[in-house]
Amino acid sequence: MTYNMEKIKHMAQIEKPASVSDKEKNLVIHIKDVRKSFGDNHVLNGFNLKLHEGENLVVMGKSGSGKSVMIKCLVGLMQPDSGYIEVMGQEVNTLDQGQLDALRADIGFLFQGSALYDSMTVRENLEFPMRRHKEKLGNVSDTRPLVLEALENVGLAHTMDLMPAELSGGMKRRVALARTLILKPKVILYDEPTSGLDPITAKEIIELMRSIQRKYNTSSLIITHDVDCARVISERMILLVDGINYAEGTFAQLSASTDPKVEAFFKK
Ligand SMILES: Nc1ncnc2c1ncn2[C@@H]1O[C@H](COP(=O)(O)OP(=O)(O)OP(=O)(O)O)[C@@H](O)[C@H]1O
Ligand SMILES: [Mg+2]
Repeated sequence: MTYNMEKIKHMAQIEKPASVSDKEKNLVIHIKDVRKSFGDNHVLNGFNLKLHEGENLVVMGKSGSGKSVMIKCLVGLMQPDSGYIEVMGQEVNTLDQGQLDALRADIGFLFQGSALYDSMTVRENLEFPMRRHKEKLGNVSDTRPLVLEALENVGLAHTMDLMPAELSGGMKRRVALARTLILKPKVILYDEPTSGLDPITAKEIIELMRSIQRKYNTSSLIITHDVDCARVISERMILLVDGINYAEGTFAQLSASTDPKVEAFFKK
């Protein structure tokens, strides 16, 4: 309790972006001046990010630069040391567990790797978030049509009763994508959606991400190392370097930059 009060007091001291509710109504995610250290390891040093409704925003940063830490802070899985994080109008760090759960039901999170439950069938994997967020879906007596719809979106309706071990890496990634879709999220966070996949399968995943965005008009925050993925999917990009949003712009703008730290991302 004391801890919570301290935290709220601390968060209140941080300058609130007054413009969020007035000027920028279509802001889905706003990260402002977020800092996070693990001992002497200063990972985020005042990171800023804005994601607008319907936008595909790519965040690139080298391995260990803090991309996953940033995304975990965003969904309340990790507490930042300081800073302001707002998701769909709610300040994440002030939410209690129930409010956080409700918010997470509107956020699709495709974890790095696929993170399917190995001991569950594909269908059970997809039912898992439905059970966890019952309040969002209401009383669903038969889950099958929803599971089928989500799997059809990724072209894998026939895998419903298979175990993850029976799927290829690309199929697992698509099932994981179907699982993030099952609750019809307004925003999807992708952590390295194409990593570990061959270029052709990676392209298929990117195409799926685009078709999902068109079909459901979701906003997407995509974390990737994959320059090809960034080129195809990003409307805007942020480069995470030294714990800050070092550079921002379109793929064309950033890939034409002569700043050595920016150039490093685009060298093949
Ligand atoms: N729970 C934790 N405890 C201590 N250190 C952590 C923890 N989580 C992450 N870190 C550290 O934070 C830094 C950033 O990690 P993070 O996983 O965010 O990197 P990343 O940019 O996602 O890298 P990759 O591209 O390899 O996934 C690393 O130095 C990591 O060791
Ligand atoms: Mg990571």
